[in-house]
Amino acid sequence: MKVAKILISEDEIQAKLAEMGAAITKDYEGKDLLMIGILKGAFVVLADLARHVRLPVETDFMAVSSYHGGTHSSGVVRILKDLDQEIEGRNIMIVEDIIDTGHTLKYLLRTLAVRKPATLSLAALLIKDDVERPDFDIQYEGFHIPNEFVIGYGLDYNEQYRNLPYVGVMDTNSTSSPTDVQEGFKLVD
Ligand code: IMP
Ligand code: MG
Repeated sequence: MKVAKILISEDEIQAKLAEMGAAITKDYEGKDLLMIGILKGAFVVLADLARHVRLPVETDFMAVSSYHGGTHSSGVVRILKDLDQEIEGRNIMIVEDIIDTGHTLKYLLRTLAVRKPATLSLAALLIKDDVERPDFDIQYEGFHIPNEFVIGYGLDYNEQYRNLPYVGVMDTNSTSSPTDVQEGFKLVD
């Protein structure tokens, strides 16, 4: 069994995103905003969060890789897909699924700051507690979670489980099999 338990339910996630979306709507009223999802994980968060923002936002994606299949961060970040547009002088918001070691963000913040956006903010659905990381200001925070490997709602283990509608804790002691993936979906019933 791969999914040990549901940590954050679908309803809890949607309620939190509605709150975050309302705050973003208030803060960016009358301004232009480009929301940048960090692939692959953030595709689900960006899709739902953007629909809670009642402003004509633009969206773009960047793909970076910091994990190479396992459950531990390697610290090596590579750009796999860059933004489609220039960000100089624009208000941009990085949208992340989860902040763990912060390696990915540290790299992204540095890389994007060089391009001189007018403002840069950060929205993250999940923030792992008890992890030593560089200090960032996170303007729009979802949930603080324990330092465990989680899956679902965009987060994968070996590319699976991203489409679970909830965030679950993975049982890292067992090995993956197609049956385990099926079990994860049964949990929502
Ligand atoms: P960081 O660079 O260590 O902060 O990790 C950022 C990226 O690692 C996230 O965008 C995720 O793709 C991945 N990641 C970190 N923790 C988890 C987890 O618990 N489950 C699945 N992916 C994770
Ligand atoms: Mg990710």
